[in-house]
Parts: sequence; structure tokens; C-alpha cells
Amino acid sequence: ATTRTLDLVIFGGTGDLAMRKLLPALYHLHCDGLLSPQARIIGTARDALDDEGYRSLARQQAERFLGRDFRGEDWQTFAARLAYAPVDALQGDSFAALAEQLAARPDGQRVFYLSTAPGLFSAISRHLEAAGLIGSDSRVVLEKPLGHDLASSRQINDEVGQYFGEEQIYRIDHYLGKEPVQNLLALRFGNALFEPLWRREWVRDVQITVAEQVGVEARGDFYDRVGAMRDMVQNHLLQLLCIVAMEPPASINPDAVRDEKLKILRALRPFTAGDVATRSVRGQYRAGASGGQPVAGYLEESGIAADSRTETFVALKAEINTWRWAGVPFFLRTGKRMQDKVAEIVINFRSVPHSIFGIPASPLHANRMVIRMQPEETVDLHLLAKQPGDVMQLQPVRLNLDFAEAFRSRRLEAYERLLMDVMRGNLTLFVRRDEQEAAWRWVEPILAGWDATGERPKPYTAGTWGPAASSALLSRDGLSWHEEI
Ligand code: BG6
Repeated sequence: ATTRTLDLVIFGGTGDLAMRKLLPALYHLHCDGLLSPQARIIGTARDALDDEGYRSLARQQAERFLGRDFRGEDWQTFAARLAYAPVDALQGDSFAALAEQLAARPDGQRVFYLSTAPGLFSAISRHLEAAGLIGSDSRVVLEKPLGHDLASSRQINDEVGQYFGEEQIYRIDHYLGKEPVQNLLALRFGNALFEPLWRREWVRDVQITVAEQVGVEARGDFYDRVGAMRDMVQNHLLQLLCIVAMEPPASINPDAVRDEKLKILRALRPFTAGDVATRSVRGQYRAGASGGQPVAGYLEESGIAADSRTETFVALKAEINTWRWAGVPFFLRTGKRMQDKVAEIVINFRSVPHSIFGIPASPLHANRMVIRMQPEETVDLHLLAKQPGDVMQLQPVRLNLDFAEAFRSRRLEAYERLLMDVMRGNLTLFVRRDEQEAAWRWVEPILAGWDATGERPKPYTAGTWGPAASSALLSRDGLSWHEEI
């Protein structure tokens, strides 16, 4: 069979995401022989560059972001795939240069990766169509955030949807490309062991934490308009919650999986105004220390409004109104400038109904499964075992699965895996429109509730686990966050 050519066009081709994530991911795929020899990558942006200019800019950035993985020889062969077309997304005529690049391979597969502000997604789609560049099997990749709320996300989806069918649209949530997240699917549905316990009868609570040590870095201007709820909760954390909570899909096919995730999003108990006060915490970091170095507070960072109320921390108590999960709290938490960089899902099981060993059946000794994405990729199962010796004394132990040790081959970064899926046409790990809108529908009343109170986010010192109210959210149920146990 003849291999079709592939043109991957990156809008925002000189931007931060392209340089930091997309080109390094493509470079790795190239080095591993996973990119088809025919694949070409065309960067577009407003900058007046030619192919050579783009290659040298990309090389400079790649040396920085790839670090030790940068190898001059491999880069040479990779760079031969790179091309550039100057495009101003708002000017239809400026698509001529891109059209010319693409004209060389009229029958090839085309992927348009929109790594720009979402406000440009419809203009780009419209101009691509007007220039005759969209084929019936072209694909478009949409980066988050997709809109600011339900209405704006609907509008973008409607507009892009005029030019691309839903099966051509790849809404990226890079958390779904992380190995441990897919491993959660494998653990849950590839083993008989966990699924019977994966329900309210045996699970006491679930905790999903994505804590970062970095602050807003150079993205202050963007972040101040977005905040942690829109940047992390509406997408990454809710997707993780879906993977934990969904019913077994009938297959791994895109719609089988996405149908199940959608059911969870729709079953999330809505926040009332009263719930906002009792089931949500938002915080904003103050000056403190990170990694032993003093760091500025959020309001002192560049690009941040002096009286900004944007949250850099969110903790929520979510509940899922289904037979499987009724009454089981799902605690979600994310923040910038936290004590550690940790991304993990903790499943806390119930205590034994009765202890024969004379120790109280306390949650302290209950089983716990910890699926970690950061700092290392591991799954830990916390159990009780007998201490060696002449008395029956129990002691907590951990069964530890370390993916780096268990599988020595190089693991694909999230963007590598997801770019492969786009090129192969596999939508399973991409977010469908109805999922995304259901997530907005759940998040909106919380954002509105915060606005309505007129209160400021709770301050927390940089380098800590967030405001005290975050611990209080759990202690009201007699629980604590994983690291506090
Ligand atoms: C992005 C957010 O989606 O995810 C960033 O916009 C955040 O603010 C990043 O830092 C975290 O991703 P990761 O893969 O480093 O955990």
C-alpha cells in the first residue's frame, strides 16, 4: 500500500506550546521512527520568517527544551521536515502562503493544530475553508482553554463545527495522554481484582490532587483572566475524575469510553449557592518560599492586576449521584506555588468491618491505592502486614509498582501519545463536545458563586498546601488529605 503524505500545520507555530511541547514531542517521535517518512510539519504565525528562519528558531528553542535529548544529527534529519508559512489568522488573504505550501501534496492527509488563543479558532477554520484547504478527512486539534464559560465554548464549537465534523475534531486534554492515566484504565478494566471494590460499599473517599510548585511564570497576563478553575479543574481534574468513576465501557472505542465519561459529568451533583460556601475553597498565593528560595506573591507577579481576585488554588468536594458512588466524596484540589509538585489520585478504601487484632478499625489502617503521575509514575497499594517477630503486630506496608522499573522502554510523553493518536485518527483520548459542555455546566455555578460573594480568595503562603480552609473541607467529614495522614 502506498503511504499517504501527512501535513501537520501548527497555528501558533512560534508560540510557547509549540516550542515547549509540540516540536519536542514530534522530535522524539521522529527519533523513535514513529513519524511516517512522509510527514511534514508546517509552522505558521504572524512572524515574517522563511523555512530556514523557522528551522533555526526551532533549533534554538529545542536545544533549550530538549536538554540532553537534543542530538545535532537527529535534529538535522528532523528539521528537514519543518517548513513555515507566515499567516495572520485574521486576514483571509494571508492564507495564500500556506495554500501554496500545501498545494505540493493535494491528496495528502492534513492536520491543523490550533495552538492559539481560542478567540482565533473560528477565524482560522473559516479562512482554511475559504482557501479550500480542508479535505473531508482533514483533522483539527483544539487546545484548551476552549472558551471562558459554557456560552463561549458553545459558540466556538458551533463555529468550528461549521467547517469540521465532530469526528474530525480533536479536543486535547494532555492529562489523558499521561501513561498513568491510561494505566488506570488498564488496572480497572484489565484486572478482576479492583472493580468489585470500586464502589460506595468499599470506597470511603477519593482525592485527586494536581499540585504545582511553579507560580504563574511568564503567563501572568493569560492566567489572570483564567484562574485555576478554568485552567485545571474544568478540564484536567474532571477528566481524571471521569476515568476513576466511569462505568466499564463496552469497548475502548472512542464513543464507548466518552459516553461513560459523559454520564459521570452529568451525574455530578450541582453546586447550589450554599454549597459554594461549604464545598469549595479558592485561594491565592502570597509571598513565601519555593525550593528554599523566596518567591513573590501572586499580586506582585508581572501581568497581574493589583487587586486581582483570580484564584491560584481550588479545592472542591464533588459528589456523583449514581448508585455506584452516592455519598462518596470526590475531593479535587489544584494549585500553583504549592509545597511539592505532585499529581496523584488516591482511592481510600473503608476500614475492615471488625478487627481481630485488637487495633481499632481506623481509617489510618485502611487500604489505600495511590496512582501517581508526578513526581514519578507509580501505583502504590497500602496494606497491613504482620511485622516479623514473635508477636502478632501489624504494620502498614506498600505494594509498589514503579512503571519506570517495570517497563524499561522509554515511555511516551503525553503530547507524543496524543499526536500519534491524531495522526492515526483515534479519538478515544480526546474530549467530545458534549463532555466539554457538561464540564462547563458543572463548573459555572461555582465560579458564579465566588463572584457573588464579593469575597477575596483565601490567602496562602507560597510553598504550602494551600489555605487552611482546604484541610477544613475534609476534616468536616472526619477526613484528611493524603499527605496529612
Ligand atoms: C496546563 C495548564 O494545561 O497544564 C498549566 O495550562 C499547567 O497552567 C499545566 O502548568 C500542568 O501540566 P503538567 O503536565 O506539567 O502537569
